[in-house]
Amino acid sequence: MNARTLDSSHLTGGQKLAIKYFTVAVILFTAQILFGLISGYQYLAPEFGYNVLDFNVTRMVHINALVLWLLYGFIGGIYWLVEEESGTELVGLRLANFAFWLLTLAVTVVVLVFLFIQTGPGDMSTLWLINEGREYIEAPRWADFGIVVCMLIFFWNIAATFMKGKWSGISGVLVLDLVALAGVYLAGMVYTPNISVDQYWWWWVIHLWVEATWEVLVACIMAWGLIKTLGARRKIVTTWLYIEVAMMFGSGILGLGHHYFWIGTPEYWLSIGGFFSALEPVPLVAMVVHAVYDSGVHKFKNSNHPALAWLIAHAFGNFFGAGVWGFMHTLPQINLYTHGTQWSASHGHLAFFGAYATINIAIFYMALQKWRGNVYMSAGLEGNGWKWKWALGLLNGGVVGMTIALLISGYDQAFIERALGGATWAAYFDAQNGVWFIQGLWWRQLFGFMTAAGLIILIWDLLTIGRNEKRSIQLVGDNTAAEVTS
Ligand code: HEM
Ligand code: HEM
Ligand SMILES: [Fe+2]
Repeated sequence: MNARTLDSSHLTGGQKLAIKYFTVAVILFTAQILFGLISGYQYLAPEFGYNVLDFNVTRMVHINALVLWLLYGFIGGIYWLVEEESGTELVGLRLANFAFWLLTLAVTVVVLVFLFIQTGPGDMSTLWLINEGREYIEAPRWADFGIVVCMLIFFWNIAATFMKGKWSGISGVLVLDLVALAGVYLAGMVYTPNISVDQYWWWWVIHLWVEATWEVLVACIMAWGLIKTLGARRKIVTTWLYIEVAMMFGSGILGLGHHYFWIGTPEYWLSIGGFFSALEPVPLVAMVVHAVYDSGVHKFKNSNHPALAWLIAHAFGNFFGAGVWGFMHTLPQINLYTHGTQWSASHGHLAFFGAYATINIAIFYMALQKWRGNVYMSAGLEGNGWKWKWALGLLNGGVVGMTIALLISGYDQAFIERALGGATWAAYFDAQNGVWFIQGLWWRQLFGFMTAAGLIILIWDLLTIGRNEKRSIQLVGDNTAAEVTS
């Protein structure tokens, strides 16, 4: 049997670079899961790793690796599509490669410092050299500047390539969105000694990323993905994109107020945050309708089964994780009881995974298809495609299981600590010892292992899919007429 090898010779320069980004993304994803398992276990056995690898460090690596691997995936995804979408070559490939190595070097140094020099009090020098102390974006100030430089190089490359080639509805939205996405990162670099003011700006990065700019970015990737896998009509997809973007910015920007309820900001944020964030699920419903409608019109006939499955997982994961789980605790009357409990962690896991991990995995599969020489990936895969199906099932099942387990812990915590105990210090410890609370955390750990098993199979599949396949890609819908570059 003549096995297909991975062949970069027919990839564009941007696509070769994208593969590098994807590789680092998968490595960071693995680190994220590993450190998630350790921090989860530290809840159950608090002495585990004490003074060697403390919970604050394992948790920090877990969530920073998460944010980073998603960003790596996004940047890779955009480098993957920019040349096809613009119809021209990337303007600054060498500089783009340089930025990749610079960023990766900075990330490596930051992680090593996190792991090995994480002791002593915080002051101005630790803020510059060790840790900025802002959850999810803890990289020290020196690395911030490196990140900004790399983002500028990335942005210039994308914008200038589209300017040289041709614009489309998708690329127009994408480039404008990147301005906002990079812009809000700057808000997380302002130093202030006042914790309320600090949190006020920090939320601009975190909330305006995940509920506005990242949502728009993945909507662009989704639009492109549906055109590629289903051969969906560009006109229809672009129209949906405009509608979703308008709604997302409409609700997501002022929805920011749901993080301003209890941090010392004026009271009007209770109404603004409650009202606008309650509207946030609406565009997410539109995204589900859009994906299912497009797939239905094409009778689910597609050129890449695993990628389409993950795109649909994204539409539903985004809707349930962000929309439903977010909505549950977004009204101030409810958030008063649930704020900062495992309820938030339940939502955080399903939303990040459902909205962002899924779509990245979809792009990985699309990239691999071309890298393996435009191999066949439609229905009836060689070997029955058991690996991608198991990976899909275990990863989604694991994360949904963790989400439910954390919700049970969160219910117990909100009830005992807040409703019964009146949010006192003693009530906090009562809740931490609650039977349901602890059982929920055991279940989380169990489902964490299921998630990890899914990841292992996913990586195995990504490395091997299509290797023994003899057929070539099956083009569908509008793509059959299009020119294929292989
Ligand atoms: C994909 C989009 C989203 C992601 C990735 C996401 C993720 C998160 C995460 C990780 C947190 C915890 C933050 C912390 O460390 O304190 C959080 C908090 C929160 N999210 Fe989301 N979220 C998303 C969308 C939404 C939406 C659409 C809503 C409302 C409908 C929402 C409502 C909330 C609320 C109210 C909190 C505060 C919880 C608390 O008071 O502790 N989220 N979100
Ligand atoms: C092996 C599976 C995993 C385990 C055992 C795990 C465990 C944990 C633990 C123990 C925390 C700290 C929670 C706290 O401070 O109370 C955490 C936080 C977090 N994890 Fe995971 N995790 C896993 C996988 C994931 C995945 C797949 C994602 C998303 C793609 C994710 C996203 C997050 C987020 C956003 C937070 C911060 C939530 C918040 O502060 O509300 N984790 N995780
Ligand atoms: Fe938010």
